Amino acid sequence: MYTLGIETSCDETACAVLKDDKQILSNVISSSLARHQEFGGVVPEIASRHCLEAIDLVYQKALEKAGISQEQIDLIAVTRGPGLIGSIFIGISFAKALSFSLGKPIIGVNHIEAHLEANFISNRKPNSFIGLIVSGGHTSLLAFRRNHYELLGETIDDAIGEAYDKVAKILGLGYPGGPIMDKLAQKGNPKAFSFTKPKQEGKFDFSFSGIKTAVLNLCEASPSMRGTKRRSNPQSEIASALIETLPRNDERFALDLCASFQETVIGWIVEKTILASKTENIKNIVVGGGVSANSRLRKRLAEEAQQNGMKLLIPAFELTTDNAAMIARLGYSLYKKGKTSSYQMMADPSLRIGA
Ligand code: KG4
Ligand code: ZN
Repeated sequence: MYTLGIETSCDETACAVLKDDKQILSNVISSSLARHQEFGGVVPEIASRHCLEAIDLVYQKALEKAGISQEQIDLIAVTRGPGLIGSIFIGISFAKALSFSLGKPIIGVNHIEAHLEANFISNRKPNSFIGLIVSGGHTSLLAFRRNHYELLGETIDDAIGEAYDKVAKILGLGYPGGPIMDKLAQKGNPKAFSFTKPKQEGKFDFSFSGIKTAVLNLCEASPSMRGTKRRSNPQSEIASALIETLPRNDERFALDLCASFQETVIGWIVEKTILASKTENIKNIVVGGGVSANSRLRKRLAEEAQQNGMKLLIPAFELTTDNAAMIARLGYSLYKKGKTSSYQMMADPSLRIGA
């Protein structure tokens, strides 16, 4: 069975062909990232225009790479949310038109759930697991059991990827910030700066806006970083005191800040994930989302899971960021359970998991 996956939830336009549940025949991605860089983040209007320009070409390429004709497609799976409404709308409209003209079934899927599902292309899906979503738009912990997701906690402000992107912007490192900060962090001292752990009401909730402000204050207080800052701010006393101990060198400062930021936020995420696994008494941990490419997160989670006798699934690098193979995989499993969507299906920018 051939499933065509279509993903247009943000700045990527992607199509993939999946044979049955395990074999990715093609996984084509066209990104509009370069067009957003000068703005320091994704501009929704530019993203949706790119999706419109790219979708047909990406689709043709995916079929060509998979070596199948469009008549051989058995199922069309498409992202219906969450994400940017304009971009999702392009993918859904394309999928509906294709479904109508080919006479093939269509299924709309949840992008976030698909990030977790990416793991099940090469691994068996466990009956129960703790799902950790770490992406540019979401940071959540979920418990999956009896075919049902329960939300245990989520970020109350910025998502983890968003925090990386904002800190990178403060440091003048460009967009997206995650991959570059991950690289730089490996050359810095993770103990150079310490940050206050935020307190949230829910024990599995997250908060990353405080650490972002702390980084901003540190930069404001650093003589070597003043040229990088985007706006002036009152200097924080704590930040000034910390900075006294550092060499007056912006490169060292930035490397140490990246390393300390990374060590801190990854530490918080790993700690809560392991706690969720223990509290819910679920030994499988499944991770998904763009930040699952992070080297420190992968290493720390692997170590902790091993020490605690837990089984960890993290996607292969090429399946960590937005792609259509994960959409096809989720569409396939829903279809096998007897589900399809109608042409009434609409883009839902704030779609929740389990909806
Ligand atoms: O899942 P994704 O591709 O898009 C969303 O659905 O949001 O995630 C993109 C996010 C960006 O914020 C990017 O900075 C972050 O993932 N990211 C990383 C790394 N690679 C990508 N963050 C930290 N470390 C990385 N290696
Ligand atoms: Zn995503």
